[in-house]
Amino acid sequence: MTATIDRLDADAICAAMTSVQALRVGRLECIASVDSTNAELLRRGTEQTDLSVLIADTQTAGRGRRGRAWHSPPGANLYLSLYRRFTRQPRELGGLSLAVGVACAEALHALGYFEVRLKWPNDLLARGRKLGGVLIELMPASAVIGLGLNVRIPVTTADTIDQAWTDLATLGATPARNPITAAVLDHVLPALDRFEADGLEPFRQRWEALDAYADQEVRVQDGMELFSGRALGIARDGGLRVHLPQGERVFHSADVSLRPT
Ligand code: BTN
Repeated sequence: MTATIDRLDADAICAAMTSVQALRVGRLECIASVDSTNAELLRRGTEQTDLSVLIADTQTAGRGRRGRAWHSPPGANLYLSLYRRFTRQPRELGGLSLAVGVACAEALHALGYFEVRLKWPNDLLARGRKLGGVLIELMPASAVIGLGLNVRIPVTTADTIDQAWTDLATLGATPARNPITAAVLDHVLPALDRFEADGLEPFRQRWEALDAYADQEVRVQDGMELFSGRALGIARDGGLRVHLPQGERVFHSADVSLRPT
């Protein structure tokens, strides 16, 4: 499929959404290029319309977790940010990226991509490779929720990505970005309402059902410290539970990888 056929279109996305969710979106824009959709919504600040969605065909300075770059070639993938107000305190929003991950993975399952799994804290994986990621940045009483999803990584940029990746095109039928975006929003918007009302609890079991590393031997890099243990799923506050030789420990900010066998 060429980039021209797979043109991002706000009207097509709204038309493919369930009407109840489409009516709730305050503003939905598809633009050709921006430094980062997250950065742009952060710049617009807290005065912008609640439930604003910004999607770019390409990002010139896409942001990943922990200050990493997010490769954002044009015509191929999904780079989406959503602005939403929350009444919860910032410390209660710690599990939000897990809830969003669950909603995205369930959206992709609903589209037939049954191999999609989650890796703590915010990765979408399939076949052990990175398919996407969630980056949440907080503002006063609100959050910008960014999703990067590999739909069809162009061969020309594939070599520049510094980790094992996959895309939806590898997993199944050649996907179009407008219906994928609609499915993601149809799942993410109600998930945000549920998170606002009830926190992470309604998502914990669903997250664990999708956990790529459940009961696997993992390595956890927490700052300068490296731990080895067995992944036990997530704690009530969204931390990662790991069974270490000295007992169970919950990690809140760390990089996790499978332990080589
Ligand atoms: C990760 O490191 O896994 C998170 C990646 C998040 C990337 C998305 S793409 C849309 C939004 N804009 C950004 O600059 N980053 C997020």
